[in-house]
Amino acid sequence: MSFLEYAPAPESKAILNLRDSYGLFIDGEFVDGSGKSFTTISPADESHIAEIAGASDDDIDRAVTAARRAYDKVWSKMSGRDRGKYLFRIARLVQERARELAVAESLDNGKPIKESRDVDVPLVASWFFYYAGWADKLDYAGLGANPRAHGVAGQIIPWNFPLLMLAWKIAPALAAGNTVVLKPAETTPLTALIFAEILQQADLPAGVVNIVTGAGATGATLVRHPEVDKVAFTGSTGVGRDIAKAVAGTNKKVTLELGGKAANIVFDDAPIDQAVEGIVNGIFFNQGHVCCAGSRLLVQESIHDEVIDRLKTRLSTLRLGNPLDKNTDIGAINSAAQLARIRELSDIGEAEGAERWTADCAIPDKGFWFAPTIFTGVEASHRIARDEVFGPVLSVLTFRTPAEAIAKANNTPYGLSAGIWTDKGSRILAVADRLRAGVVWANTFNRFDPASPFGGYKESGYGREGGRHGLTAYLKGAAA
Ligand code: NAI
Ligand code: MG
Repeated sequence: MSFLEYAPAPESKAILNLRDSYGLFIDGEFVDGSGKSFTTISPADESHIAEIAGASDDDIDRAVTAARRAYDKVWSKMSGRDRGKYLFRIARLVQERARELAVAESLDNGKPIKESRDVDVPLVASWFFYYAGWADKLDYAGLGANPRAHGVAGQIIPWNFPLLMLAWKIAPALAAGNTVVLKPAETTPLTALIFAEILQQADLPAGVVNIVTGAGATGATLVRHPEVDKVAFTGSTGVGRDIAKAVAGTNKKVTLELGGKAANIVFDDAPIDQAVEGIVNGIFFNQGHVCCAGSRLLVQESIHDEVIDRLKTRLSTLRLGNPLDKNTDIGAINSAAQLARIRELSDIGEAEGAERWTADCAIPDKGFWFAPTIFTGVEASHRIARDEVFGPVLSVLTFRTPAEAIAKANNTPYGLSAGIWTDKGSRILAVADRLRAGVVWANTFNRFDPASPFGGYKESGYGREGGRHGLTAYLKGAAA
């Protein structure tokens, strides 16, 4: 179904200057890895992008040793003002290479170019600009007199916002005076490696940031390295638990940003058209690969049918396909494994008795794809109402009173984010106050700003990233 055909408008890959293979970035240089190398592919067509070095335990030791040396000899001795200059320089280089980074991100991850171009990469630059500004003001941040860095930070990031998660981790760590060993996710290492080139361009002193590629075992080794003082992780709750256990009883500091199952609550006085846009953005942005995605729609019973009708109409206009096409709304699922998980949970949703509706769109022959899907008639006990699907799948539940909405919204082991749609300011404040969620959006969803702290309750993890609060994780004895 389509009343308006769009001509293809692909962003050119000619701007990319990719290598056939990438080494590890240790002590300011690309070096060979002694672990098993792997390939990163484009999930949109399964084409080979580049061969990526695998870091062995020895390589990780080399990276941590380089970070320790850089901390002791250079970074811990440098003034905040000078550290800030490097961060400003990195921010500007990200802006200069923005288009290239956006194309690389969409190619490697599968997300639509309009998102990588208009959301991910601009936010990456803004994160570095924001924390650059803090580097010389730590003494005035209300975090105690003369706050001090921990030392070496070991950082592990996921594949859903590869470069943005790198920025969330590296920018505050460096501003606070730490040095870094970062491990990107195995399906999306590309932009972290281009970022390493940017660090060379910025003349960042060798060893201040090291990037080691590999799968879960590489991350596990990094977490356990005795010279790592601070661990920062974003990813699944299961791995978060493993990391918490690994560091228990050591002096390492940890922050964990894990999954979510956010309630997006629509009251009967909400502006419906805006709410529908917010629901779409809440769960179909980035194919639903978003930890704070509004994956549980709680809609007031009296407007349920109207909202669902309008939502289905809206979803029928979304264009699924080539991530590099500027008109694409829904890109590829990041990996075969994630697609299998989305399929499995959706099949369980159907088997448990929820009603499944899928947007009618053509699925490309190659690559990993999942059409926007809605489940109505979902019960709080259903797996699709409890488990993080991490895909373009919305579960719809209803409520009658604000108290019931709050009870249902909080009925989850997670607590990362929530949304409220209503015309009444007083209701926004009253409901937000009772939601056990780190971020509550009102009449909007999935908004990010470097000045605003982000993080969870319960199984969504602990610690805050972003804002002044985000500095505390990287400073000794600091409490926000
Ligand atoms: P994952 O948690 O395994 O991967 C995230 C990162 O952790 C990757 O860099 C991975 O290599 C690394 N890692 C894996 N095992 C590790 C270990 N034992 N020690 C240290 N690092 C380790 O997530 P996965 O398997 O890719 O996705 C599974 C589910 O996790 C998704 O379906 C989604 O529900 C959730 N997830 C949540 C994310 C979030 O932003 N909160 C991001 C990615 C996944
Ligand atoms: Mg890839």
